[in-house]
Amino acid sequence: MPLADVVNHLLRTKGPTAVGAELDRRVEAIRTECHRIVVTERTLAATREARAAAVADQAVVATIGSLTGSVVLVVGFAAYVTRGVVRPVRRAAAMAGRLAGGDLAARTPETGAGEIGVLERSFNRMAESLEESHAELSTSRSRILAAADQARRRIERDLHDGTQQRLVSLVLELRAAQNAVPVDQPELKARVVRVGETLLAALDDLRELARGIHPAILSEGGLPPALRALARRSLVPVELDVHVPRRLPEPVEVAAYYVVSEALANTAKHARASCVRVRAHVGDDILRLSVHDDGVGGAVPGQGSGLVGLTDRVGALGGTLTLHSPSGHGTTLTARLPLT
Ligand SMILES: Nc1ncnc2c1ncn2[C@@H]1O[C@H](COP(=O)(O)OP(=O)(O)O)[C@@H](O)[C@H]1O
Ligand SMILES: [Mg+2]
Repeated sequence: MPLADVVNHLLRTKGPTAVGAELDRRVEAIRTECHRIVVTERTLAATREARAAAVADQAVVATIGSLTGSVVLVVGFAAYVTRGVVRPVRRAAAMAGRLAGGDLAARTPETGAGEIGVLERSFNRMAESLEESHAELSTSRSRILAAADQARRRIERDLHDGTQQRLVSLVLELRAAQNAVPVDQPELKARVVRVGETLLAALDDLRELARGIHPAILSEGGLPPALRALARRSLVPVELDVHVPRRLPEPVEVAAYYVVSEALANTAKHARASCVRVRAHVGDDILRLSVHDDGVGGAVPGQGSGLVGLTDRVGALGGTLTLHSPSGHGTTLTARLPLT
């Protein structure tokens, strides 16, 4: 029943006190209802909040899970790329570097898959064929050098046994003719003497030429006497330190002779040195040579033909030739010649 009707009814039947009591009861009922509503709302809010928090937690867990998955994927892919691509390519690049540096035995493991494997195999095939060509080239270079040395030795022998001997006989005959010239023919005698002197000079020239073609003393006595002969003929005083107690393979002796001969000629021509030191020491499987002068230094191998030719000759025997020539501090030419 509406409140106004209730109030009028109570005023009429029970008086104002009953109206007050009724109003208090109704206010209390409203307060109780309000309180119930507030409590219900709070409970609902707490439930919603708990649900939201649970959903947020799930979202965080899902995000962390997917992030971890992505990281694992990225790391896995990076590891695959490193192992399958980067490492083989790096190994192939390192091998190419070693090949370029002259190590023709360098190879790369053929472990890659697909294109990388094809690349590794191609690199190895290329290195193999390079190594083979290099070996063939070295052999043919040695053969050419040996053939040239043999031809030079033959020419030297022909000159020595043929032309030189005939000139020597001619000199002897001229001496006899000179003695047979009558004393009343001084002009004729003087002419014969002049011809004899010219003949002797020509003989010296021929000997020098023959020695340049091939040093006979080397074939006959080996390196020590040949180096002593070079030292005697040198225009700059030579200090010799030779320890070669046995005969060496002929190509090694010939190469060593030419190294010292060219170095001494260079010292006389270019160094303005006061002395040269020549060392030749033989080990078990190597001959070590060095020629050091105290001259002006600053030698450059490519500027002439002598040192370049020596590098070829020494290289054909598998040896090395090194020039150290700082300007103003002398020149050292070093050769290492394997004996095998
Ligand atoms: N002992 C040395 N001292 C100074 N300079 C040198 C010496 N040896 C060589 N050289 C320089 O190095 C160049 C190259 O030498 P080389 O190949 O023997 O040629 P070359 O035919 O001129 O002697 C020479 O032209 C010279 O300038
Ligand atoms: Mg020279």
